[in-house]
Amino acid sequence: MIVIFCEWFVKIGGLFCHSLLFMPYRNLFLQRFNWQLPNNVMIEIRNIRKSFGEKVVINDVSATMKPGNTNLIIGTSGSGKTVLMKIMIGLMPVSSGEVLYEGKDLTKMNETELKHLRKQIGMLFQGSALFDSKTVEANVMFPLDMFTRMTHTEKLKRVNEVLDRVNLKDANHKFPAEISGGMKKRVALARAIVQNPKYLFCDEPNSGLDPQTSLVIDKLIQELTKEYKITTVINTHDMNTVMESGDYILYMYKGNKQWEGSNKDIIFSKDEKLNSFIFASEFLTKAKEMSMIEARSAKPNAK
Ligand SMILES: Nc1ncnc2c1ncn2[C@@H]1O[C@H](COP(=O)(O)OP(=O)(O)OP(=O)(O)O)[C@@H](O)[C@H]1O
Ligand SMILES: [Mg+2]
Repeated sequence: MIVIFCEWFVKIGGLFCHSLLFMPYRNLFLQRFNWQLPNNVMIEIRNIRKSFGEKVVINDVSATMKPGNTNLIIGTSGSGKTVLMKIMIGLMPVSSGEVLYEGKDLTKMNETELKHLRKQIGMLFQGSALFDSKTVEANVMFPLDMFTRMTHTEKLKRVNEVLDRVNLKDANHKFPAEISGGMKKRVALARAIVQNPKYLFCDEPNSGLDPQTSLVIDKLIQELTKEYKITTVINTHDMNTVMESGDYILYMYKGNKQWEGSNKDIIFSKDEKLNSFIFASEFLTKAKEMSMIEARSAKPNAK
């Protein structure tokens, strides 16, 4: 009798844990108890090719984003960053290749699966893409109106939470035309995280901002990434972002993956194309040399 009881206890317990791991709120549940996903390689792209007519713009690119970290896609204008990001979030079809989210290929998902995945993705578009005719509050509430059945009071509570988190407590009733560029980016960021996403994509979050405001935005994205254990992917030209927040960096050159590594590896990189992109000015080349000397004297075995 006791053996049968124990067997059933284990079976029901197993079923309960299994359903918790696969239910729609799995991410929130795992975050709450600080657990890791069983397969923590969350976003991987494999052999991505994209062409427009004869023109190949992404050529056989494979990469694995670091879960729960800030991942950067860098490269000169036209190297394919935005196209690659659009492919990663399913806004643009691939010519061939796979985009895997926890092992599941986005390019083969049906509409229901895609809709479910999209709810877990936050996106900050280049230029913020706010609705000019809507207030800050209505802009941030928009994804909740579209994707949830929350009551107005619940939505407003969530909107105020995220606005507070991006330090925009009293901006609810302002229109985009009435706020600064940096504030617009923060509104766009609040909108991107309002649904508590598991994945955050930012296309040039610093474009058009002064260096100081850029640092504020970078810091905010980094804090949100760590705080909510989001896997973040950022397209950027900004060298401060590269040095401060590149846990994983994919350097694109004319549609090809030219280099990958972290911001710490960049100092020692011998890749000429990467070096001429990152350390474009004489000043930065000198700074790299100084950093290498410093790092070598701290770690005599470093090559
Ligand atoms: N819809 C499209 N039709 C045809 N060509 C396109 C299309 N979208 C992008 N391209 C081409 O793909 C290439 C990569 O463009 P992409 O926008 O990804 O560059 P990027 O690295 O994001 O540049 P930037 O830093 O200026 O934003 C470019 O040569 C561009 O002209
Ligand atoms: Mg772009």
